[in-house]
Amino acid sequence: MTIDLGEKKAVIGRSLHDLEKHREKGTAYIGKVVMSSGENPVLGRKILMDLAKPHVVLICGKRGGGKSYTMAVLLEEFARQPLHIKKRISVIAIDTVGIFWTLKIPNKEQKAELFNWDLTPDKTDVRVLVPKGKLPFYKEKKIPVDGAFTLKVSELESEEWLALFNLTWKEPEGVLLSRIISSVKEKLGTLFDIPKIISAVQSDKDADKKTKDAVVGRLKVAKSWGLFEKEGTKIKDLAEPGKITIIDVSAYRQAIGMEGTREIIVALIGKRLFEERMLYRKEEEMKLIEGEKKESDMPIVWMLIDEAHMFMPKDRSSIALKVLLEWVRVGRQPGLSLVLATQRPDKLHPDSISQCDLFISHRMTSQPDIEAVSALRPSYMHQNFDKYYQEMPKSKGFALILDDNTENLWMVKIRPRFSWDGGVTASAFTD
Ligand SMILES: Nc1ncnc2c1ncn2[C@@H]1O[C@H](COP(=O)(O)OP(=O)(O)O)[C@@H](O)[C@H]1O
Ligand SMILES: [Mg+2]
Repeated sequence: MTIDLGEKKAVIGRSLHDLEKHREKGTAYIGKVVMSSGENPVLGRKILMDLAKPHVVLICGKRGGGKSYTMAVLLEEFARQPLHIKKRISVIAIDTVGIFWTLKIPNKEQKAELFNWDLTPDKTDVRVLVPKGKLPFYKEKKIPVDGAFTLKVSELESEEWLALFNLTWKEPEGVLLSRIISSVKEKLGTLFDIPKIISAVQSDKDADKKTKDAVVGRLKVAKSWGLFEKEGTKIKDLAEPGKITIIDVSAYRQAIGMEGTREIIVALIGKRLFEERMLYRKEEEMKLIEGEKKESDMPIVWMLIDEAHMFMPKDRSSIALKVLLEWVRVGRQPGLSLVLATQRPDKLHPDSISQCDLFISHRMTSQPDIEAVSALRPSYMHQNFDKYYQEMPKSKGFALILDDNTENLWMVKIRPRFSWDGGVTASAFTD
């Protein structure tokens, strides 16, 4: 059975029941269906993606296939929701490359292509937040920044400190650090900064000088990252309802020894959002039981993570992995959605593949990566992945979509962006 949406449109990610009730409200216009074969296929129905209910979306494809572009299209659509829907959703995008701030600039480059789609260049209202201590990096690169954020020192557990410094319980440094963290927490509660931990290490009676110096050295480095503070940014300010927040962590991209900083940012934000949503979920349920309208201050959350294999790796431990797996496995109940993009599904934790209900795949050529997603192979797929990729036009922006909610498979062309594509900015700025 299909629901007639007037014009030629199809909604993905939305059950028949919800479609009857809400029609196309709260959806994202992401592209059009491919109707014929060849390099310049005829395009048909508009594809709209559900944004109102929680989903796990996996975007795959080889490098340069259009993953970040597709993610940006989604961000544009979140920003264009009518106010009553927008204020019930908060969107956080983790930007490892520093490309999403260009959403603020209209896409003059692809004006002709937009015209073909009856669209026009337009800027998108997003908020770019960067780690406080890295503000000069962004100023230097002339990236328009709307604010800075820090993480609250006391929110890091011992194991997270160890992971951040690549230490284990087996090393004396690891033993000392975790002992100090627990004693500082016991004495000072939730309000302390890195210098407080440093002085606690220095005045420790049991450890030897060499171990103490090694730990102090690491803590001083962590202080220099400009990421941790006594108070830290409140989670409500990071995940503000109605706002599209870009957490730009690209300043940590090249720096050796700072790999853990991106992970700790995602881990702590993910953990706090999970806790908050669980609490609010209870509040919403109470309101529902008491006959009031189901609404609370904490909106449903969408987190978009580009280069997701960095945070959810298959073959190594990651501080973010545990948190994100929780989002993937049980996040739907408290209203947490994830959009993960990766060019290496082969390197991605298999649960994020098996748990996704919307699979958007640009072209893939590497066999191990194709094999990794082959685990999906739902009954509504009639041929092998290889065959679909062979049939996919070679130019950018085409994608195969598997939708578990409607049990449909689509070959689509993702629509052009309203706003400037950060992926090309590097060359645009240097010539
Ligand atoms: N839907 C699309 N329409 C038009 N051009 C696109 C589309 N998707 C991607 N492109 C082009 O392809 C380039 C690479 O896309 P990008 O999203 O950066 O790749 P990836 O993130 O998969 O490595 C973009 O800079 C853009 O020029
Ligand atoms: Mg990309």
